[in-house]
Amino acid sequence: MSEPAPQLGGRLCICVGAGGVGKTTVAAALARARADRGQRVVVVTIDPAPRLAQALGLEELSGEPRRVPTGAGELWAMRLDPKRTLDELIAGLAADEGVRERALSNRIYRELSAAVAGSQEFSAVAKLYELDRDGGFDSIVLDTPPSRNALDFLDAPARLMRFFDGRALRLLIAQGGLAGRASAPFLGVLGRLTGAGVLREIAAFFTAIGGMVEGLGARAAAVEKLLRDPATTFVVVASPRRAVVEETIAFARELRAAKLTLAALVVNRVHPAGQPAPPQAALAELLGERLAELVHASVGERDARATADAAGLMRLRESFMGLATVAIPELEGELEDLAGLERLALYLEPRPGSSSVDSPSVAQ
Ligand SMILES: Nc1ncnc2c1ncn2[C@@H]1O[C@H](COP(=O)(O)OP(=O)(O)OP(=O)(O)O)[C@@H](O)[C@H]1O
Ligand SMILES: [Mg+2]
Repeated sequence: MSEPAPQLGGRLCICVGAGGVGKTTVAAALARARADRGQRVVVVTIDPAPRLAQALGLEELSGEPRRVPTGAGELWAMRLDPKRTLDELIAGLAADEGVRERALSNRIYRELSAAVAGSQEFSAVAKLYELDRDGGFDSIVLDTPPSRNALDFLDAPARLMRFFDGRALRLLIAQGGLAGRASAPFLGVLGRLTGAGVLREIAAFFTAIGGMVEGLGARAAAVEKLLRDPATTFVVVASPRRAVVEETIAFARELRAAKLTLAALVVNRVHPAGQPAPPQAALAELLGERLAELVHASVGERDARATADAAGLMRLRESFMGLATVAIPELEGELEDLAGLERLALYLEPRPGSSSVDSPSVAQ
């Protein structure tokens, strides 16, 4: 009897990679694979395609994971809502209901938090922390926005600190004590920009948020620690396209330089080599010259694409020697439903005896 394939990635799994390579789909399929092993797993997605969102029951943004009806295990899914994630974080740190209300409704907070929440990397990592802390899940799979830069993740906790505790805030706090003096340069600019009431709002902001700065600092430190924990692993998703290959190599180099744990490489949408075309003369007899030429041209194109993809795959394999690598072919048909995810899952974690996999390849 064959051993079950090893799980791809650690207990906490962050799917990263270039734009459009299949991060969201692979994250959902990885989660499905883990659920099919009997785990209680949650996948946090970012901007899933409408059909995938529907398949996972995630038409709306939500702060809470929802259960997806699948066979074995428990699959849970949610869509990241960056603004809400930050609001909940603040709400959780507020000493009481009044402070919470005042903080969340404060105009300065709303302006600043919208800017910070614009960073999906930050919210994603903060959500990972929360789910790990109180979700009771066996594993968590995190989808991420397209990133060119691994530092977007590493920076995320520091950005949280800078938001509330950075130099700009210290400056504001220092000047906030002089709230009456609109001539102070920083406040003067704010005052001119956003109206006279802004000074009162700033003072209120500090009153409300000031008591949370320490708690936020502690949270940022905890989030950063979790990112660096060996249980938190990065699964790099790529495609064999040349530009993506080079971007992926650079990205992974950064991850490694930052001492983050790289668990696996998924090379998605590899065009396989097909059957050779019959000789053109034989085809011409059957189809006529014109059609035979067209068939040959299209087979030629397909072969060229397959050759280029094989070269991209090889370059990736050579650059990631020693790393678990999975190649997924360009698949036909619907992928953005639960059955489609299962098809993909079989490439990510083939099950013994499964026959629907034509060429899964896992190389250590
Ligand atoms: N192996 C595959 N074969 C065919 N189509 C695929 C495959 N994997 C993913 N796709 C399709 O590619 C498209 C992009 O996938 P997905 O949305 O997961 O990419 P992404 O990396 O999350 O994109 P973004 O960077 O915009 O978030 C989707 O339509 C998906 O169904
Ligand atoms: Mg995506």
